Amino acid sequence: MFKKKKREVLTCDESLSHIAFIMDGNGRWATSRGLPRSSGHVAGAAAFRKIVECCNQMQLKHMTVYAFSTENWSRPKEEIDRIMKLLSDYLDEAERIIDKNDLRIIFLGDKSPFARELRSRMREIEQKSSSGKRILNIAMNYGSRSEIVHAVNEALSNGKRVITEEDIDDNLYTKLSPPPDLIIRSAGEMRLSNFLLWQAAYSEFYFTDTLWPDFDEKELKKAIESFYSRKRKYGGLG
Ligand code: IPE
Ligand code: IPE
Ligand code: MG
Repeated sequence: MFKKKKREVLTCDESLSHIAFIMDGNGRWATSRGLPRSSGHVAGAAAFRKIVECCNQMQLKHMTVYAFSTENWSRPKEEIDRIMKLLSDYLDEAERIIDKNDLRIIFLGDKSPFARELRSRMREIEQKSSSGKRILNIAMNYGSRSEIVHAVNEALSNGKRVITEEDIDDNLYTKLSPPPDLIIRSAGEMRLSNFLLWQAAYSEFYFTDTLWPDFDEKELKKAIESFYSRKRKYGGLG
């Protein structure tokens, strides 16, 4: 029987230029090991670094990660403090990563709730990496509903009176990236949790039970294989 040849190395072509990740399951990963939830975030940050590396190697043009939602502020202070510390650590490393990989980092979301120092370092990394050819969007204090409202208000303040789809596209936090071709969510939940609601109109979805800290190159390969096995039709006949 004909057996479909498995892709040996991670590759992508123009049909896969943007992958978005909902990095879920850090807390469950930790509690199942009898560890505090914050340890799960540390392990999740390590998995994130590896996946960024994989996407760099495959020369993926756009990558978006959901790191912290507008709703995640309702978690215990200790957990939030740990996540902010992980963000700060990543900002320390980011300069090296952007230069090596020709990467442009953009933080999606309203930066105003972050500590002043974090805010200015986020802006600094965005500026320093602004000539990078490939984009890494990090959704931090991100919520898609508020992003859409923000986009509409931006368009209105630019003098628009009747809002078009294009006006919204042009004013989203993700305006420099095309819509995601593939959205991957780890840890078994099958929902968007306020992520890229507008952009996901024709995205392909891939859900896995694997918890984010265990999500690795093999898992990414499975998701990409699944993507390439699908037929996108955009409402037409394909
Ligand atoms: C995702 O993991 C990370 C953030 C939301 C910051 P969770 O912390 O949501 O992990 P679970 O879903 O509780 O296992
Ligand atoms: C979505 O995960 C947000 C991030 C991964 C940053 P949540 O854990 O916050 O989502 P729900 O609460 O399960 O919907
Ligand atoms: Mg979760």
